[in-house]
Amino acid sequence: MSSFQPVLSRRQALTLGATAATLAAVPALAAPTSLAALARDKGLYFGSAVGAGPVGSLTGSFEDAAYRKILADECGVLVPENELKWYVVRAAGPQSFAFERADRIAAFAKANGQALRGHTLLWHHPQWFPAWIKTYDFGAGPARTANAQAMLVQHIDTVCKRYPQMISWDVVNETVDPADGAIRRTVFSDILGQHETLDLAFHTARAAAPKARLVYNDYMSWEVGNEKHRYGVLKLLEGFRKRGTPVDALGVQSHIGAENADSFTGFGRPQEKEWRAFVDEATGMGYDLLITEFDVHDKGLPYDFAPRDAAVAAYAKGYLDLMLSYRQTKEVLAWGMVDKYSWLQNQWLREDKKPKRPTLYDDAYQPKPLREAVAAALRAAPVR
Ligand code: G3I
Repeated sequence: MSSFQPVLSRRQALTLGATAATLAAVPALAAPTSLAALARDKGLYFGSAVGAGPVGSLTGSFEDAAYRKILADECGVLVPENELKWYVVRAAGPQSFAFERADRIAAFAKANGQALRGHTLLWHHPQWFPAWIKTYDFGAGPARTANAQAMLVQHIDTVCKRYPQMISWDVVNETVDPADGAIRRTVFSDILGQHETLDLAFHTARAAAPKARLVYNDYMSWEVGNEKHRYGVLKLLEGFRKRGTPVDALGVQSHIGAENADSFTGFGRPQEKEWRAFVDEATGMGYDLLITEFDVHDKGLPYDFAPRDAAVAAYAKGYLDLMLSYRQTKEVLAWGMVDKYSWLQNQWLREDKKPKRPTLYDDAYQPKPLREAVAAALRAAPVR
């Protein structure tokens, strides 16, 4: 992930407080409209990632009844946060598939009339495969290629067919190296070739999940230092089009936050121009957009909750307004709905070592200004 570190002066935070106070001043309805309903009105999906917890111990956010209620009330779509990754599904070895954890999330979604989206069929980065694959013997000569192809195809085919209800799939995740924009090397690409590996993944997914929107998902952002990442992603998307690879959408992860006060005072001069140019290029090639992993990193913001939450909400509103102004944006997924379960709690600690507040609900399960900012952005979005 990018190592952005938001910094905001107290004065700037207070100024932003006024902006978010305006957002928060929208009168509460007696029965608040869910984010799922607000999104649906605009032809969009709103939802969240959720983790099922380790098999057996049944711990984790999914075992928390109050959390499940928020998910059921607010979300029209759920995505398993880790449960469909190779290192979970294929943990036990090359012959096994473990679906118990993802099945639990799928059952919950079905019981609540929610859609499901898949993350991810091929996190094409050496770190995120199960350990056994590093020493797996693919054989030699032509058999080596055939065996690598067979393993990749079997994985994608099996996982897709297990969950035919998926509305979209992150087929390939984070394969562009932000350092130079190049495609990462993995066991598969070393044997099959880089484009060949990615193309095979998408073709296999199209055949096994013909109804799902197929997505390339990555975390490039508008920030200074992301130029090579954005360029690499556009080059990849262009290549997919030239080769006729069946890719429908770009997943923009949207782990937003800011490196400097200028960014936090509104999205986001001067980088907004850069970002629009990037999004225009992607949509110009015919790709839809998905906001796949939305949260707001508040690492550098002052401790006080009111100005901190206000800054987060105002920044998010600007970002979401921009993204939703593109009718190509079809889904908005939060990467968790309650602060204490956010992956950001374990990364890049705040200087004061206090918990972060990057999601829509606080640890007492109360909605924060960020929740209202998301609602306001959905209300303001054009119908698609
Ligand atoms: O389940 C084990 C638990 O048994 C063990 O005690 C604990 C100790 O470390 O680890 C737990 O597993 C962790 C797992 O999250 C569940 O909490 C892993 O170590 C940890 O690496 C894993 O992190 C996940 C990360 O992806 C790597 O897969 C985060 O939850 C998840 O939010 C994050 O999501 C990614 C997206 O998939 C792709 N885009 C970026 C995003 C954020 O990094």
